[in-house]
Amino acid sequence: MCPLFTLRVIFCTLPLLSVPVHCQCTKTPIIFNFGDSNSDTGGFADGLGLNFAPPNGRTYFHQPAGRLSDGRLMIDFLCESLNTSDLTPYLDSLGPNFSNGANFAISGSATLPRFVPFSLGVQVSQFLRFRARSPALMSKGYKDLVGDGDFQNALYTIDIGQNDLAGSFDYLTYAQVVDKIPSFITEIKYAIWNIYQSGGKNFWVHNTGPLGCLPQKLALHGQNASELDEHGCLHPLNNAAKAFNAQLRALCEQLRPQLINATIVYVDLFSIKYDLIANAPNYGFQNPLMACCGNGGPPYNYNANINCGRTGHTVCNEGSQFISWDGVHYTEAANAVFAAKILSTNYSSPEVNFNFFCNKM
Ligand SMILES: *[C@@H]1O[C@H](CO)[C@@H](O)[C@H](O)[C@H]1NC(C)=O
Ligand SMILES: *[C@@H]1O[C@H](CO)[C@@H](O)[C@H](O)[C@H]1NC(C)=O
Ligand SMILES: *[C@@H]1O[C@H](CO)[C@@H](O)[C@H](O)[C@H]1NC(C)=O
Ligand SMILES: *[C@@H]1O[C@H](CO)[C@@H](O)[C@H](O)[C@H]1NC(C)=O
Ligand SMILES: *[C@@H]1O[C@H](CO)[C@@H](O)[C@H](O)[C@H]1NC(C)=O
Repeated sequence: MCPLFTLRVIFCTLPLLSVPVHCQCTKTPIIFNFGDSNSDTGGFADGLGLNFAPPNGRTYFHQPAGRLSDGRLMIDFLCESLNTSDLTPYLDSLGPNFSNGANFAISGSATLPRFVPFSLGVQVSQFLRFRARSPALMSKGYKDLVGDGDFQNALYTIDIGQNDLAGSFDYLTYAQVVDKIPSFITEIKYAIWNIYQSGGKNFWVHNTGPLGCLPQKLALHGQNASELDEHGCLHPLNNAAKAFNAQLRALCEQLRPQLINATIVYVDLFSIKYDLIANAPNYGFQNPLMACCGNGGPPYNYNANINCGRTGHTVCNEGSQFISWDGVHYTEAANAVFAAKILSTNYSSPEVNFNFFCNKM
């Protein structure tokens, strides 16, 4: 194992104290996650009855596992850091275990349009239904659910926005995409408010990654050298992601004084991901802009008609250090680095650990 992947000793820093306190989760930590394929642990596969094809899942699960990656996602590593099992998708109807929370994230999800499965607002509606039904079912003797008192101690994690930006670039100019960003941020604001009003107090918000470094985007729009930055990423797409992130950070700052007794942690995933792509060799990675699994070969190995898992795809050797799995999603090796960086607290504002909420139990 590369030392970079070793998760550091976990310290709990209470938001208002500067002294780090060594701490453990004394009860089962409970997490509710909302988002897209960056954190979908099987919801799309459960909901549509359609698992992602091999070689998805090959590295860790040794079979497709409802994740768009060769292995674990960031959320899986974050759960491991709390010694809790992987989050069960809300749509898992076959013996689900929700005792440590539920995952509402579905691949392809965006904040808008509203009311369309599985937009962020729909995911929050599903959560509110879970919020109401779970304690009622427990009182009837059902097991492996979340009790009434545990929702306010739970952690609510949100990672969404990438599909809003990516989808907008399909038919809008850069300026028009930037004009739409406030409408995406407003949906995230509603989501946080609705969860807060149901009793949630601990929020963990990931910003959006460098869209312009995805092999998929580069294969489709990367021919114009004047749009590429020093590391070969598309700066219009990355600038839109940065504009989104500036507004998301401002939203978190705006909500902190409004949501009494809540903690809202904003995590700069853009910097974490861009740093790995820009400095890939320092981390033992190669070909930061090329998909491991895809079609077409260098420079990007991405072909929209022959995606990873489709007949005709090629895949890098197991053990080779690629950052991009399929041109859009990251490899387990990259996700492990991202999770270690998240857990370092260097990219969090305020600088609290992922397990900060365990103290409140
Ligand atoms: C997870 O388990 C390890 C080993 O028992 C322990 O040192 C660590 O504090 C635990 N982490 C949490 C967040 O409980
Ligand atoms: C559900 O998960 C919890 C915590 O991980 C565990 O204690 C419990 O045994 C599980 N239930 C079943 C039926 O496996
Ligand atoms: C290349 O990108 C620049 C900057 O966005 C733009 O002005 C120019 O029209 C583009 N050229 C082509 C051939 O698309
Ligand atoms: C905030 O927490 C304090 C102390 O637990 C409590 O007295 C107060 O009612 C809480 N306020 C709100 C708005 O939740
Ligand atoms: C976090 O920041 C500290 C201090 O700048 C640095 O020593 C450490 O390497 C950083 N950790 C990560 C994972 O970036």
